[in-house]
Amino acid sequence: MKKHLLPMQNVTLKSFQLLFHASPIMCIAFFMFEILFCLIPIFSAKAISQIVNIFSDLKNSELNDLMLIVVFYISMNIGMQVLLPIRNNVSEKLSDKIAKDSEMMFISKIASFHSIHCFENNEFYNEMQIARNGCGTRLISSLQMISSLLRGIITIILTAGYMLSIHWVIGTISLLAVIPNAFYNFWVSKNRVALFRSRAESSRKLSYLSSILSTPGYAKEVRLFDLGSNILKKYENLFDTEYSRINKVRGKQCLLGMISASVGAIANGAALVLFVIMAINSKTSAGDIVLYTSLLPQFIGGLQIIINGVAQTKDNNYYIKHFLDFLELDFGETNGTLTLPSQIKKIHNISVNHLSFCYPNAERYALKNINFTIDAPALVAVVGENGSGKSTLIKLLMRLFDPTNGEIKINDIPMKEYDILKLRKNMSGVFQDPARFSLTVRENLEFANVEHKIDDDDMWEACKKAGIKDFIKQTSKGLDTILDKQFEGGTELSGGQWQKISLARAFLSDASILFFDEASADLDPKAEYIFYQSVREYAKDKIAFYITHRLSGTKDADLIIVLKDGEIVEIGKHTELIKQNGEYSKLYHAQADGYRS
Ligand SMILES: Nc1ncnc2c1ncn2[C@@H]1O[C@H](COP(=O)(O)OP(=O)(O)O)[C@@H](O)[C@H]1O
Ligand SMILES: [Mg+2]
Repeated sequence: MKKHLLPMQNVTLKSFQLLFHASPIMCIAFFMFEILFCLIPIFSAKAISQIVNIFSDLKNSELNDLMLIVVFYISMNIGMQVLLPIRNNVSEKLSDKIAKDSEMMFISKIASFHSIHCFENNEFYNEMQIARNGCGTRLISSLQMISSLLRGIITIILTAGYMLSIHWVIGTISLLAVIPNAFYNFWVSKNRVALFRSRAESSRKLSYLSSILSTPGYAKEVRLFDLGSNILKKYENLFDTEYSRINKVRGKQCLLGMISASVGAIANGAALVLFVIMAINSKTSAGDIVLYTSLLPQFIGGLQIIINGVAQTKDNNYYIKHFLDFLELDFGETNGTLTLPSQIKKIHNISVNHLSFCYPNAERYALKNINFTIDAPALVAVVGENGSGKSTLIKLLMRLFDPTNGEIKINDIPMKEYDILKLRKNMSGVFQDPARFSLTVRENLEFANVEHKIDDDDMWEACKKAGIKDFIKQTSKGLDTILDKQFEGGTELSGGQWQKISLARAFLSDASILFFDEASADLDPKAEYIFYQSVREYAKDKIAFYITHRLSGTKDADLIIVLKDGEIVEIGKHTELIKQNGEYSKLYHAQADGYRS
């Protein structure tokens, strides 16, 4: 896994680019609103102080001025009330847009990997988890943080300026009074980030424990083994240990908070006493006192915004950086440019030469020096004990992994030279553990060929071949039935029925290489009989690989590949292999004897 790391200092800039790209107009509007909303309260305070000043010494000549200021004050407040919902609307829309954009970037990055190499790497899962945290809301809150920093700075400059202009000594005392509180708040914010990070793992564990009791997948075992109270106890213990640690930090925070706030309050009290003394000696106006008392909380608020903004921007950027780095992840995948010429379309032959494969981070080779050639059409059975490498061979033939050594050729051209997406249009199959899409039957079948519309008649025909037609006919919505009870009108399928859906999908594709990995393992004997008939019929002009443990199904294969510990130990037709009296014959007779006895 290669990472292209973005320098931390570029993260804010890059997140702005993403936000701006999502909607330039909304971004600009967002900033304008933020600036406006920090100016209005300050100008309102100034207006009120002037009103009070004029009132305290009202002369007729000043009536016009008074009216003007009152109108100014009222219009600013009306303006603010009108603009507030618009600002919220812009902010919500921008949040939704960036949430959608970034989530799509995230999932399309994962979907862009041609192989499944990435899912073999635990580091990939970690990166994915942190990166997911860095999209959507983190990006928008980064915009909010920066804009509130801007708001904080403007508020502080204006309020401090006004306060100093009223009386520089009192202003200075008040400004200095907030310093202990500022330090305290910075310390709290930093601590919050550190706490959040240190809790990440235990929070994951807590939500996992909770999901055990609320997810249907665990429901049977939870009841059979009466796991409810045991899991709850585990949850409670973990929660308690975690929170006793957090409560210690909270206690310290509480004490320091009390001290810093008291220092600030004493200093402000001193400033107020000075004010009162000045008022008694007529050295200040009532308006100034009003202005001062309304500016002070705004100044403290502005400072608070800056402190939180700095700490939270740092925290946000940590996740956003992982998101941006994730978008640049590289597994060294290569893709060819060749497509199968339209006049050939079909695949004529597949050859595997000196192929060996070791899973990422595995110690043992799963396949060793595999060699064979197959000319179309052919029905190829792959047999062998569990863990002998059958599924791995299929994954390599689909290029879900690249061989560690050796190569696979299709129509005598190395597989790597083909555009894998085009080549895969010529492949279809059923996996040992087919994906269970909680969608309608129709949508499940449409995945066979997403570029072309598939007729209902063809879908029913495929369902018939796969032996699932009668079941689907019985459901109230037929092809439109959702295959999951979580959704309204949904139905639940058994393992064998899922395999049949997967089979029907395979029969609907016009691919020329087919793979069936233990596709009949969960089928009842009747369904298995129909399955073999359908595969034989369907694969008449194709190459079909099928893995099976039931050797009654291998008799009429054109070729049987017998794997043992990742190596081909025998290869040939049924009659030849029986004659050889080796591994295949042993497996075959063991099963046959089982039936006879
Ligand atoms: N994702 C994987 N990572 C590491 N080893 C694997 C992985 N999948 C399978 N293996 C190992 O590769 C060997 C072959 O597995 P597989 O091809 O699934 O066997 P079969 O399909 O014949 O039962 C086994 O030893 C198995 O443990
Ligand atoms: Mg397998």
